[in-house]
Amino acid sequence: MLSSRHLIMLQFVVQFLTGTVLILCVVLLLLAFYLRFAIAITRSNSCLVGKTAIVTGANSGIGYQTALNLASRGCKIIMADVTDMEKSTLDIIEFTNNPNIFAKHLDLSSLKSVRDFASEILKSEDKLDILINNAGIGASEKNRTADGLHPVMQVNYFGHFLLTHLLIGLLKKSVAGRIVFTSSLLAFTNNLSLKNLNFDSEKPNYFDRHFVYGNSKLSMIMAADTLAEKLKGTGVTVNSIHPMLVKTPLFTKTHVVYKNMFYDVFMWLTQRVLGRDSWEGSQGLVHAAVSRQLKNATGKFFGECAPMRKPLKAYNKQFCKDIWDASEIYVGLTPEERL
Ligand SMILES: NC(=O)c1ccc[n+]([C@@H]2O[C@H](COP(=O)([O-])OP(=O)(O)OC[C@H]3O[C@@H](n4cnc5c(N)ncnc54)[C@H](OP(=O)(O)O)[C@@H]3O)[C@@H](O)[C@H]2O)c1
Ligand SMILES: *[C@@H]1O[C@H](CO)[C@@H](O)[C@H](O)[C@H]1NC(C)=O
Ligand SMILES: *[C@@H]1O[C@H](CO)[C@@H](O)[C@H](O)[C@H]1NC(C)=O
Ligand SMILES: *[C@@H]1O[C@H](CO)[C@@H](O)[C@H](O)[C@H]1NC(C)=O
Repeated sequence: MLSSRHLIMLQFVVQFLTGTVLILCVVLLLLAFYLRFAIAITRSNSCLVGKTAIVTGANSGIGYQTALNLASRGCKIIMADVTDMEKSTLDIIEFTNNPNIFAKHLDLSSLKSVRDFASEILKSEDKLDILINNAGIGASEKNRTADGLHPVMQVNYFGHFLLTHLLIGLLKKSVAGRIVFTSSLLAFTNNLSLKNLNFDSEKPNYFDRHFVYGNSKLSMIMAADTLAEKLKGTGVTVNSIHPMLVKTPLFTKTHVVYKNMFYDVFMWLTQRVLGRDSWEGSQGLVHAAVSRQLKNATGKFFGECAPMRKPLKAYNKQFCKDIWDASEIYVGLTPEERL
């Protein structure tokens, strides 16, 4: 039998727990409302007939919706992805009536694949108007690719760094070339340093895996900034964006690697409560790629279609230069290919 003292304690514990759960629910609800309320939709009506765009990671999620949107504006689209794109290509052609949609294999986790892709593009295209560096992974089982780079760093950052260098000549041939990098708010949670640019971690724990993603996304912002600086006066602009939380297969693919309870709760919240759909998630990316208002915008980081503050390290010019110089070596750029 419980004594009355025990009963009072039990009552206290139950009340405390219900209170906490209630507060958590209210906070979550407010956050969910805020995230729905914050979604910015591009008002741009720009027509893209006569223009050519490359979208990496175009088979799925944010990249697919971006390709679809640009296609509906009459743009010629080269969809670049590691996955077979037969269905997504046919879908985009059917949904938009734009027959100018092409799929080209690109594996960003291989420097050779990036070079092969770029050399084919250089042969087939005489200019490039929009380059969307969007493909990405959240985590990887392995800690090195065949090129000796960290897979998350290579797919998200190094691969795009090399690709952009190899295509820069074509972008300069456009009247107003635009490059957009899909970064993430998680760039704010990083431990990027010159020493761990190619992240080594013998037994990666939850936080290491989290940091390497943040590092790759911060590197993208910094590369966009440095490129913007180097390309001033060429007519090519470079910006980065974050799409907020978007319900895409990225989370499931990451879950398979993490196998961590915290992450699973985060994934569940993202997919069920806080996440927006891929169409909504693609709006900021499309805006940065086509908006007439952003004709002169370069070296900016956008969230919800508006410029915002970057992670602190991105303002350190020396740090950005050091990371840039080291990246040139990691991806094996020849002296002539450097910018
Ligand atoms: N979803 C979010 O909440 C969120 C938030 C912030 C930033 N982002 C960023 O947004 C971008 C798009 O992600 P998403 O959410 O749309 O994810 P997604 O649906 O998984 O799309 C990513 C695409 O990139 C492809 N890809 C993966 N590895 C590749 C490689 N080695 N070479 C070429 N393509 C490769 C994927 O192909 P497979 O299907 O074969 O993997 C997939 O088609 C990523 O850079 C991501 O980091 C997403
Ligand atoms: C930062 O990155 C390194 C990888 O070079 C990792 O081993 C380390 O644990 C990270 N630091 C923190 C505080 O997590
Ligand atoms: C990669 O992981 C393996 C085993 O998990 C470990 O032996 C190796 O030292 C790691 N390499 C790097 C560069 O982190
Ligand atoms: C872009 O810059 C040009 C030249 O400085 C200026 O004439 C034009 O109004 C600017 N456009 C926008 C949208 O800011």
